[in-house]
Amino acid sequence: MRAVDIIATKRDGKELSDEQIRWFIEKYTDDTLPDYQAAALLMAIFLRGMSARETATLTAAMAHSGQMLDLTEFGRTVDKHSSGGVGDKTTLVVGPIVASTGLPVAKMSGRGLGFSGGTLDKLESIAGLRVNLSLAEFLDQVRRVGLVVASQTAELAPADGRLYALRDVTATVDSLPLIASSIMSKKLAAGATAIVLDVKVGAGAFMQTLDAGRALAETMVAIGAHMDREVTALLSDMNQPLGRAVGNALEVAEAIATLHGDGPEDFTTHCLTVAAHMLLLGNKAGSLDGAYDLAEHYLVSGAAWEKFVGFVEAQGGERAVIEQPHERLPHAAVIEPLLSPRAATVAAINARAVGMTVVELGGGRAKKGDMIDPTVGVVLAAKVGDAVSPGQMLLEVHAATLASAEAARERLLAAFEFSDGPVEPPPLFYDGISTRTELNDGGKNHGKSKGICDARHP
Ligand code: URA
Repeated sequence: MRAVDIIATKRDGKELSDEQIRWFIEKYTDDTLPDYQAAALLMAIFLRGMSARETATLTAAMAHSGQMLDLTEFGRTVDKHSSGGVGDKTTLVVGPIVASTGLPVAKMSGRGLGFSGGTLDKLESIAGLRVNLSLAEFLDQVRRVGLVVASQTAELAPADGRLYALRDVTATVDSLPLIASSIMSKKLAAGATAIVLDVKVGAGAFMQTLDAGRALAETMVAIGAHMDREVTALLSDMNQPLGRAVGNALEVAEAIATLHGDGPEDFTTHCLTVAAHMLLLGNKAGSLDGAYDLAEHYLVSGAAWEKFVGFVEAQGGERAVIEQPHERLPHAAVIEPLLSPRAATVAAINARAVGMTVVELGGGRAKKGDMIDPTVGVVLAAKVGDAVSPGQMLLEVHAATLASAEAARERLLAAFEFSDGPVEPPPLFYDGISTRTELNDGGKNHGKSKGICDARHP
């Protein structure tokens, strides 16, 4: 087989055979094929798409590019993954909540991708914390702590590790088959019996419309079901950033505040809802309401915080950093406010523009392997639906230099839309689908009635 023929087949809009897909993934993973051929195939897939069969084969090939973990010794285990958003530090809160109930969470996460942040980059702003764990370390931590968050390694889904980094810098991120295979290959390789997917929809998501998000959710749930996993996919709003902080260390600080019960309301409710779905699939509760109450109990009691401390220490992170985040997390040299130009209601905050601005401040990568600056980012003081007066602070920019803060301020002001009348904030969740058929509501709830997306938000 020749890589160039496979690239040409997809470039011309034809279907690849299972053998071609498996061969390409195997040869790219063992370094026989160079990045430039993989990048060309990624672009061809981006432009031409893939059939359901091709996507399922690509996912399985990527999952089998390393070992497939067997977590049956831990009983039921549950995993979660977000399709990528702005200000999405959900794992840092949800992982500890769920693990503190005794349900093990063994998770492979990713780095920043395009305008969206990555959990691994966020975690690395905690001095000493390692995400590059060996398989033995990964399993040992599930045993000892019940919570592990690690990167793909040479042993676990290595094909995704390499393709993910390549997609980030070749404008091939927002593709349904590439996102579905990337997420599900990691989830299948990590071995959890149940998976909750947080599929983001809107300006700050790779899927910008509800229909596109639903198509991604359906593809991933079908792949999981085919591999005998229980999967729930939630469709959540990503038009404005989630919570208030965007940027690696700033998001860790916000996650810590949330674990202490002081997080932004939207983010806290979002986390409790995702955690509730994980607890439900993990058979820790008999109903979504019961699961939500359980999640809230473990958050409020401080058990989730204790679990977070244990997890950070187990991965080598310095306890003092998370105990005194304001003093000890890395800080930006420059913090500048952005003020409202007029009296109005905030009508929109384009999450993609905010995410891109943070990347340009140094919080993301322009090319593979770039170092990122953990200190930079944005903290929103106003969100959609808030009334602001002239000169009132809309946000703080955290930057390395005054010049970069100035440039960011201009872009960030353009990300805001204002209205003279009142504005309803967007819902946190739209709907979702699950292999647990009793949860499915045919997409009718739109977050407004009890169903797959618990309606405990305004
Ligand atoms: N998260 C992933 O792991 N992969 C993607 O492609 C997008 C989000």
